[in-house]
Amino acid sequence: MTVSFDQLKQDFPILDQIVNDEPLVYLDNAATTQKPLAVLQAIETYYHTSNANVHRGVHTLGERATSQYEGSRTVVKDFINANETAEVLFTRGTTTSLNWVAKSFGELVIEPGDEILISYMEHHSNIIPWQQLAKKKQAKLVYIELTDQGQLDMDDAKQKITDKTKIVSISHVSNVLGVVNPIKQLADWIHEKNGYLVVDGAQAVPHMPVDVQALNADFYAFSGHKMLGPTGIGVLYGKRALLEQMEPVEFGGEMIDFVEEQDSTWKELPWKFEAGTPNIAGAIGLAAAMHYLNTIGMETIVQHERELVEYVMPKLEAIEGLTLFGPEDLRFRTGVISFNIDGVHPHDVATAMDMEGVAVRAGHHCAQPLMTYLNQAATARASFYLYNTKADADKFVEAILATKEFFLNGFN
Ligand SMILES: Cc1ncc(COP(=O)(O)O)c(C=O)c1O
Repeated sequence: MTVSFDQLKQDFPILDQIVNDEPLVYLDNAATTQKPLAVLQAIETYYHTSNANVHRGVHTLGERATSQYEGSRTVVKDFINANETAEVLFTRGTTTSLNWVAKSFGELVIEPGDEILISYMEHHSNIIPWQQLAKKKQAKLVYIELTDQGQLDMDDAKQKITDKTKIVSISHVSNVLGVVNPIKQLADWIHEKNGYLVVDGAQAVPHMPVDVQALNADFYAFSGHKMLGPTGIGVLYGKRALLEQMEPVEFGGEMIDFVEEQDSTWKELPWKFEAGTPNIAGAIGLAAAMHYLNTIGMETIVQHERELVEYVMPKLEAIEGLTLFGPEDLRFRTGVISFNIDGVHPHDVATAMDMEGVAVRAGHHCAQPLMTYLNQAATARASFYLYNTKADADKFVEAILATKEFFLNGFN
């Protein structure tokens, strides 16, 4: 299918607005993405026609809601090429998914003296659950170094994956550097040592085809809201053999088989992990988002984002006093561009760019160890998605130039 990316914005009503007297250019997609009409309509239609609790009622609405909720699980399974729906757990998002792995699987396999290997580019969601686990189990949290291009230092990774390493947990794509990490290679190395690979896919699944079986990830986490879906819904993929061994993290309704006075048994996968009434509308919205992305094609989206980055990078590199983070070789990165303007605080950059209608984010991006590593208090970050255009990229560059001019030379 040929996609007209310039017309895609029409599917996203929120993008058609004026902010600070300027047409909105939304470049904060790594934080969250906007929702197409198809997603908004799927959620509305569910509430209009089928709202009921799932897995409980035998009445018609209950059955309808259950079939839509479980149908959404099948859509997710196909989207990431999981082997079966039992391996797809609905969560609140990446953070919850990673916490579940650390709490339940970590509890099972980590022993005193073991090592958990992460990297300096991780989001706090992929650091703190492991810190907590390491403290609890007297295990050691070890960090993979980065190269001067902001990529994983694979020599260091290979050296640090030892017989002591039980878990490697790595982002597929960095939310600050935009760098794409060699997941399959890490999977091979840690599996040779009989350890396990956990992947934080929050910034990958929205932007590229992801096949969890081809990657051979043991667990893979991502969020719906970063891929055109609603907030409050996310996914934890896990291999059946591992999920079977794990204890649920939460207990209550929906996840039990039988409850006695002093003991209970759990439902089979995936439901043993999903205690309480789930986010039914969220799952349906996420499935609609995946349908939308599938219609365009994930490869087409990769191509579009690459074109935008290839278009904008030379323009950015030409700006004096602008520091760019992440690999210079654009083949290794997505549409996440972190930058700083010499002498201007990133928060001031983001505020000034907002005055031009351009939404970028500034701060530590929930990656404080990375900021320390890069010797930066914060960065500004623009992140592109499928509805962004070359005109957006031009506006982005103009806004940087205007910001620089304003802070360094004042009003003329
Ligand atoms: C790489 C990465 N991991 C994890 C998260 C956490 O995602 P959520 O807040 O949806 O749980 C984010 C969100 O910014 C992220 O970019």
